[in-house]
Parts: sequence; C-alpha cells; structure tokens
Amino acid sequence: MGTEHLSKMRTKEIFKQFGDHISKGQIRYLSAGHLDILEKNRRDTKFSDATTGKTYFDGFSSAGSFNTGRRNTRVVEALCDALNEYDMGTPLLLSRSKIEFARKLVDLAPGDLNKVVFTGSGADSIEAAIKLAKGATGREEIISMDKAYHGHSGFSLSAGGKDYYKELFQPLMPGFHLAPFGDLEAIRQLASMKTAAILIEPIQGEGGIHVGTSEYLQGLRQLCDNLGIVLIFDEIQTGFGRTGRIWFSEYSGVVPDVMALAKSIGGGVYPNGAIVYRDIPELTEFVNENPFFHTSSGGGSNIGCRVSSEVIDELVEKQLWKKAEKMGKRLKNGLTEIMLQHPESIIEVRGKGLMIGIEYRHEFMGMLMADSLSKSHIFAAYSGNAPQVMRFMLPLTVTEEEIDDFLTKFRKAMTIQGYYLFILLPLIKIPIFRKWMNDPKNLIPISAFLRKFGF
Ligand SMILES: Cc1ncc(COP(=O)(O)O)c(C=O)c1O
Repeated sequence: MGTEHLSKMRTKEIFKQFGDHISKGQIRYLSAGHLDILEKNRRDTKFSDATTGKTYFDGFSSAGSFNTGRRNTRVVEALCDALNEYDMGTPLLLSRSKIEFARKLVDLAPGDLNKVVFTGSGADSIEAAIKLAKGATGREEIISMDKAYHGHSGFSLSAGGKDYYKELFQPLMPGFHLAPFGDLEAIRQLASMKTAAILIEPIQGEGGIHVGTSEYLQGLRQLCDNLGIVLIFDEIQTGFGRTGRIWFSEYSGVVPDVMALAKSIGGGVYPNGAIVYRDIPELTEFVNENPFFHTSSGGGSNIGCRVSSEVIDELVEKQLWKKAEKMGKRLKNGLTEIMLQHPESIIEVRGKGLMIGIEYRHEFMGMLMADSLSKSHIFAAYSGNAPQVMRFMLPLTVTEEEIDDFLTKFRKAMTIQGYYLFILLPLIKIPIFRKWMNDPKNLIPISAFLRKFGF
C-alpha cells in the first residue's frame, strides 16, 4: 500500500474517465456531496482518499459488508491461500471447501435451519429464497414490506418497496404485494392460501432502520404456521453479528423457514452468498427433487467458500456480535446526547447493535449531512429508500476510543451543518421551497454550484 498521493490532475482525469465510460450521473451525485473519494489504504474501520491522503471512518461498511473489518488480515490470508490452491471450481461438483463452509454455516444458524443453497450475492439469495418458496408450495403470491430493499434483480426488485427503483421497469413479476412494515393486521388482510412467502428484513436497512419488534415477528411466524406460508428473513444486512446477536432473529426467538445471507459472509474481500433453510419435508423434498433449481457459476465458489469459512471462524473466535452490542450502545448513547442538543435537526436515534439510524427532521438533511460528515472525515450514507435517515454500520472491530473519536467528528459535522441550516431553516418554512429542497434532483446542482465557491 503506497502512501504517495495522486496529483489533482491525475484524479481529475480518473473521474473524467469514470464519467466517460461508467456514469457521469454518479460523478455529479458524488461530487455534490463531497463524496468524490478514491478509496485507498483500507484497514479495519478506516480508509484514505488517494488524492488528499485524508483518512475517513467507514461509517457505512458497504451496508454491512465489512463486519470483520476492512481487509481483515486473517480473511485476506485465507483468500491468498485459496488462490494458491483453488480456482472457483465447478458448480456441479463437490469440494471440501463447499462442505466445510456449509457445515460451519448451519452450526451457526438459528433453530433447525440446517440446509444450504449457495448463491453469488444478496439479490441472488433473495431469488433463491423466493424460488424455493414458490416451488415448494406451488403458490404464486409473495408479501414483502413497504420501503424494503432486497436487490435489483427480477424477484428481488419486484419485492422492493420503493417505486423509484421499479417504475422504469414495469411490468415486473406478478403476484407481489406490499404491506407497511410493522403492521401485522395489514399482512393478515393480504395473506391467504395463495401466499407462498412473507419476505422481511427483520430490521429494515434501506427503508430507514426500522426494528421489527418481537411481537410483530412472532405474529408473522404464527400467521405463516397457520396458512402454510414460508417465512423468509432477509438477514443480508443484519446477519453475522451486526445487531449485537449473531442473527437478529435471536432477539425474538423466531426461527424463519429460510434465511437469506450475503454481504459480510465474504469478509468484504470475495463476493459470496447463501440461503439456509429448515429441514422440513416441504422444502427439503423440493430441493431433493430439483437439485439444480438455483445454481450459478459464482455462487458457492471454492474460493468464496474458503473465505466465508474463515469469516465465520473469525466472527466466532472474537465473538464480534458482543462487540457490536457494546460499541453499538456507546455509539447510540453518544448520538442520542447529540440529538438532545439538536432538536432542530435530529428527531430520533434508533437501531440495534452497530446498525443505527439517525432520523433528521427533513429529507434534504440526509444529503446535507453526508456532505458535512465527509468534511469531518466520516464516510456515511443515508438510506436509499428513506433519505432523511442516516445509517451507521461501522465495522464490528471498532474500539471504544474510535467510537469516541467518531462522536467528536460527528459533533464537528453538526456544527458545519448548522451553518447551512442557519440559511435554510427560515426558507423551508415555505412549503413549496421545502418540497423543492427535498427532491435530490434539485439538491445536486445546487451543491455542485456551491462547491465551486469553496463550500
Ligand atoms: C437487506 C438487503 N437485501 C438484499 C440486498 C442485495 O444484496 P446485493 O447487493 O449483494 O445483491 C441488500 C443490499 O444492499 C440488502 O441490504
């Protein structure tokens, strides 16, 4: 890892090339929020910008992909070993790394979930889970939640709860119904003998960190049992220790029929995914009769399985979920104190473990705060389906000192945001201006304009 910085000229050229060949829109969006960073020197909870050399806290962890820390030494070594020994392998054939990973995964999984289907990503896990539910029950309908995010592929997009991502691609898959998150009665109204699955993130991530209560999740379990519906938990963000337990489902004691996993399962260095499901005749017989119902060249690759086995060992030996619980409390307490000092900006701090959301008073504040945080050297992202909610999902390896430093930087960002709000708060009392400000399409050109003048 070099420490030399890139020249401004070189960086400009790289961004231009990115714009020319990948997306000018993305460059516009990132520049507007001071997020035009070239990641370098990734380690544990931080990375630096190749141009400025500034070190940033990774407050986002690619939405929970870096639970074991960025470039965890042990995980990186496992990847190097795997590369020396294997290639991706043939999906059709068996290998020791696949079996070892599957065994470790089912040992860790809740309740009687002890069967695995390998996948290549989070969206792919959702595809597999929905196909399993539809195939095994022979039913056509799926219930998912408003504001949910499950990925950008066919079934997963159809199950998503934000029109913005879906409206350009109509018609999507038939038979999908949305219910408000947390509203058991609404789901009771939608559920019937036609329902194959209820799909839920037990803490909604992109939807703005909404924590499913035990009562709600237990109610879903009961409903699924009564109607023979497959209960699918998407623990792609919440799994592997993120929320202070290995799985979020442990808080409620609810064992889903299928659990969808990805992200941190690959240790942030090699993409991988899986679904784990209960060994009950309805599901197991379907898979035995259709062993190739969900295969791909990348899912469960030999390299990915070797890396994921090491991630599980690291997680278990270091008991990282306990760290998530302790550090999460420290962070949440600190953020709550800040909220009490800034009622004009923050209305709620919520979440579990190191999956914490801060809800700002207005939608536009999410983008504004990403900008202020970046200036204070924290990289953070607001929720894609709820822009007024900033998500903090630090790597679970974070220390007490780092949490305190993070909070100091956060306070600095609040001061920066205070300057913006001094001008904006009187203006947003005018409803038409408030509506205009809350549309990111309007904010991007304004931010880009202000940036030219050094803001
Ligand atoms: C809850 C949840 N489900 C599914 C996905 C899709 O995962 P991937 O990006 O690996 O396809 C994501 C990604 O952010 C997610 O947060």
